[in-house]
Amino acid sequence: MSSQSAILSDVAPAARYIVLDVPPDVRAADLAQRLRELTVGDHLLVGLGEPFVRALGVEHPGLRTFPSMSGAGCSVPSTQGGLLLHTRGEDHGDTLSAMHKAIVAIDPKRVLRIVEDVAAFRHLEGRDLSGYEDGTENPKGDEATAAALCDDGSTFVAAQRWIHDLGGFESMSATERDHIIGRSRETNDELDDAPPSAHVKRAAQEDFEPTAFMVRRSMPYGTVTEHGLYFVAYARSLDPFEQVMRRMIGRDDGVVDGLFRFSRPVSGGFYWCPAVRGTQLDLRPVS
Ligand code: HEM
Repeated sequence: MSSQSAILSDVAPAARYIVLDVPPDVRAADLAQRLRELTVGDHLLVGLGEPFVRALGVEHPGLRTFPSMSGAGCSVPSTQGGLLLHTRGEDHGDTLSAMHKAIVAIDPKRVLRIVEDVAAFRHLEGRDLSGYEDGTENPKGDEATAAALCDDGSTFVAAQRWIHDLGGFESMSATERDHIIGRSRETNDELDDAPPSAHVKRAAQEDFEPTAFMVRRSMPYGTVTEHGLYFVAYARSLDPFEQVMRRMIGRDDGVVDGLFRFSRPVSGGFYWCPAVRGTQLDLRPVS
């Protein structure tokens, strides 16, 4: 048994993320069967949300609906979907045609509702559109495997779309910007004098009890009018994401993450990514 390969692979040059709602009149068992028949290679990842798993008449331990939450002056919405599909490739043509193929295979009659469709890309050597390197403190090698994968090769993923105000961010001084992240945009060094609101201080994985390690595979997306980060993090449980998110909105100590000064989440969902046997999803835990 192994994991879906997108989880531990490096971020691809291009990616697409689609969230689908599974309306109540859709026969969930038929959809599950088509998912089982799907070829899930390097280019495709599938995640199941609680609404779809419940439609199968089961519960999956560890899978829950993304919680909406708020802190002083910031809110985190939940837009939990039934299915998450993610394609990876060399360019947007690759990811679009792989996605189209997957959708035709699992939904030939087009009864599922596409509620989010995001074309994401790698920017430079893996930077957010704010210019900061993203992923530096990701666990690597065996530590990534331990953080991201359950014993059977399955995992959980949090997917959350953030919209940036890059104009506002660029109007700040370089020091103010670096203090929002807690790292230097130029050198990527962590700053000793960063305020407690600095993102890397809020999110420091070792500072949680238990520790909150996750494997982030976030990517920039967007147009000139709307753009930001499609945040994606895999972990063997959904707890690390929720622990970090709660601290980011100040629920531990009242300090809100500086990120909220130029960015805000507009969607959020939790999904279970089954293990694979060969190139086929192993849906036995929800069958
Ligand atoms: C606008 C959205 C976000 C942006 C632009 C952003 C950007 C960054 C950057 C630039 C870093 C420093 C380099 C690195 O270690 O990767 C970082 C670290 C990190 N971020 Fe975010 N991030 C965002 C949202 C989130 C969210 C929603 C979470 C989880 C709830 C999160 C969790 C983390 C973690 C765990 C670290 C590593 C902290 C450490 O252990 O040093 N980030 N992020």
